[in-house]
Amino acid sequence: METKTMNIKVEKAKTSKIGQVDFDNLAFGNVFTDHMLVSNYKNGSWGVPEIVPYQPITLDPSAKIFHYGQSIFEGMKAYKDEKDAIWLFRPMDNCRRLNISAKRMAIPEIPEDYFMEGLKALLKLEKDWIPQTPGSSLYIRPFIFASGNGFHASPADEYMFIIAFAPSGAYFSGKVKVLIEEKYSRSANGGVGFAKAGGNYAGQFYPTQLAVDKGYNQVIWTDDNTHEYIEEAGAMNIFVRINDTLLTAPTSDRILDGITRKSILKIAENKGIAVEERKIAVSELIEAAKDGSLKEMFGAGTAAVISPISTFGFRDVDYDLPETPNSYAALFKKRITDIQYNRAEDNFGWRFKV
Ligand code: COI
Repeated sequence: METKTMNIKVEKAKTSKIGQVDFDNLAFGNVFTDHMLVSNYKNGSWGVPEIVPYQPITLDPSAKIFHYGQSIFEGMKAYKDEKDAIWLFRPMDNCRRLNISAKRMAIPEIPEDYFMEGLKALLKLEKDWIPQTPGSSLYIRPFIFASGNGFHASPADEYMFIIAFAPSGAYFSGKVKVLIEEKYSRSANGGVGFAKAGGNYAGQFYPTQLAVDKGYNQVIWTDDNTHEYIEEAGAMNIFVRINDTLLTAPTSDRILDGITRKSILKIAENKGIAVEERKIAVSELIEAAKDGSLKEMFGAGTAAVISPISTFGFRDVDYDLPETPNSYAALFKKRITDIQYNRAEDNFGWRFKV
């Protein structure tokens, strides 16, 4: 991987929008800060990132992003503690995963120092935008897309890497009701399900809308081959608790290697909770729901952290999850957010000071 000396140029916005933002009532991802980080890939290399005012991008109608969907992204968050220090959570893991996605989508990898130094510089400039209201944080969206032109169906010769920030509140409010999907698939063996490729999310919208029309919030994706095993929960990884054992589907070509997912597995191991990373059959879930051994289901991801599931639907039957005292969902959420907001000393080396 190439490394270059960093000298990040900053063009400041003439005015700030921060006074217009109601930090006590933030939704998710619809308010953006004053600046963004940009690096352009041209003539075979990435340019030194620059910070510029947050602004629209001009692209040629033939830009390959519009036609062939070469587009990848990451989701991260920055947190401010009580002493105004700024923290990230496992940021190098996001950088590495962005480059894993890049490779699969024939996008040139971004140098790690461009990602990390660029992110830190932008965070320092935008530090006043990091919310301190409980449950809120600064959502960070690094992304790369094909800005090069031409209708030829081949990788572009130019790309843009951008980091944009959105001060955000909770992704979901309350528990979610999910529908186990048997017809549509999110991913397949040999496909791009493990990558954070934009198209992976676009492909979910239609089946999710069908589920929403039936009164559910999200779809539970099953394997594309048999549709007998649950794999992910909407745009999150899925966890199930049967009796006291925590289950999640193993990572594969089809499943995103979630950072919240692997943090939960580590915390569970640390707490002595029995964990099984294995195929979870829909029939096993139904049986466990019927005999009372199904204690919890929850989705896990950066945006939502942990999102408890209240009900799952399968073939027109709804199965309600019980209210489980001392839930794993609450335990993992507390442990993770205590690390993220610098409320816990012991942090597995995951907390990163900006
Ligand atoms: C995240 O959890 O950051 C995600 O990538 C989900 C996103 C689609 C909002």
